[in-house]
Amino acid sequence: MECTRRNFSRSSLVAAVAAQSAPFVLKAQGRGKFRVVLIGCGWWGMNILTTALQSGRCELVGLCDVDERMIDAAVDALSGFNIKNPRRYRDFREILAKEKADIAIVATPDHWHPLIMIEACRQGAHVYVEKPVGHTVHEGSAMVRAARKYGRKVQVGTHRRVSSHNIRAYEFIKSGKLGKVASAKCFISYGGGAEKPKPNIDPPAGLDWDFWCGPAPLRHFCGDIDNGGRGGIHPRGFRNYLDYANGTIADWGIHWVDQVLWITGRTAPVSCHSVGGRPVRGPVIYNDREQTSDAPDHQIAVWSFADGFNLTWENRRFAGNNHMKGENVGVLFYGERGVLHLGWRHGWSFYPSNTKHEIISVAPQLHEPDNQNIKELWADFIAAIENDRLPACDILKGHQATAMCLMANLSMKLGRSIRWDAATESTGDVEADKLLKRKYRGEWSYPV
Ligand SMILES: NC(=O)c1ccc[n+]([C@@H]2O[C@H](COP(=O)([O-])OP(=O)(O)OC[C@H]3O[C@@H](n4cnc5c(N)ncnc54)[C@H](O)[C@@H]3O)[C@@H](O)[C@H]2O)c1
Repeated sequence: MECTRRNFSRSSLVAAVAAQSAPFVLKAQGRGKFRVVLIGCGWWGMNILTTALQSGRCELVGLCDVDERMIDAAVDALSGFNIKNPRRYRDFREILAKEKADIAIVATPDHWHPLIMIEACRQGAHVYVEKPVGHTVHEGSAMVRAARKYGRKVQVGTHRRVSSHNIRAYEFIKSGKLGKVASAKCFISYGGGAEKPKPNIDPPAGLDWDFWCGPAPLRHFCGDIDNGGRGGIHPRGFRNYLDYANGTIADWGIHWVDQVLWITGRTAPVSCHSVGGRPVRGPVIYNDREQTSDAPDHQIAVWSFADGFNLTWENRRFAGNNHMKGENVGVLFYGERGVLHLGWRHGWSFYPSNTKHEIISVAPQLHEPDNQNIKELWADFIAAIENDRLPACDILKGHQATAMCLMANLSMKLGRSIRWDAATESTGDVEADKLLKRKYRGEWSYPV
């Protein structure tokens, strides 16, 4: 049996519970599957889709990508699920209108998340959208409004909020064992060196490059699937091209900034200062023949909160090292009683200030591929739909964490500190406020 969106509405659930409250759980388990579409069939979209299919609660009804080769690869990868010839689409508007899916997974590059998420909600789908939620701050506010207006659940892919060791760190800090937490520092480092410009090439057959760029500026194409996309913009390389993403802080920083907001119970800072540059990667090059990426090779940001709490972020693409128990990534919570390093593959450790006390360590429980907790996040998403509650990584939380990363880039671009008024989502600085949104290209309209 196919479930329509109406099967999951609050009134159906209430009626079901009223009619037969005791067997409700069993009845819920016996219901049909959620009809799912995947929009953006790259690396992470396929991780989410396979997790959704493995849950046994979902069936795939269509794949959408502006690069046919990505759909071909997805179809191959899905052969183990006995899915033959799923319906294929290039245009997200068409797949959403025709399939009327219960759930849309949005795993495109960042600049596309807002328009696709909003259209999916408008067409009646609940949405699992990837982080960062958008490219500019006001897109995030529009996404929150759309989720509420259309009454849809929108889960953001910040899966660390449902990861077992992160939850135990949350409980440890909440219980007061770290004492008052006065500041925190998030970080990530990779090795790297000078960047050589890559030649501009014609977009390969099968890729609709104009559609890929969509509302963002149309750049010359470089890099390709054949070299794993590592060197160029697509696939996966867009993270370091500021037309489509916001560098490491918005790619990685959002995961860690989000956890600081969650664990310390905060929602927004009152000011931000950020600096960064490319002293190692070298100058940005962009001309008719060749181009480099344009994200900084290192960035430092400091956000201050009304109660005096300060959060620092630092990322580097040189001098990569695993200085925290083999980790190159994480957040350090500085409390009255010591330091807690919340990491990723190595779990977390608490280093007490009193050296007579023992170091406490907690191991992670992660899933392959890629050491993630999508399984838990997907289960939470389904439970949120069925129980008509907000998901763990609701779009508002994703927006708040994304906005912090974006305001850091804004400060770095302007070369000065900015104030932040979360109530009005503005800085009080005319030049900075202009950068909270951007002009869309061609037929696309900025979401309001
Ligand atoms: N939560 C996490 O831990 C995590 C991890 C990795 C990536 N991500 C996020 O997932 C998203 C995708 O990253 P990726 O590494 O899989 O990138 P990718 O390049 O492998 O995949 C993106 C796909 O989207 C397609 N696409 C572009 N525009 C489209 C459009 N308008 N309609 C349909 N498809 C379109 C591209 O052709 C590409 O196939 C990013 O936002 C990234 O930040 C999240």
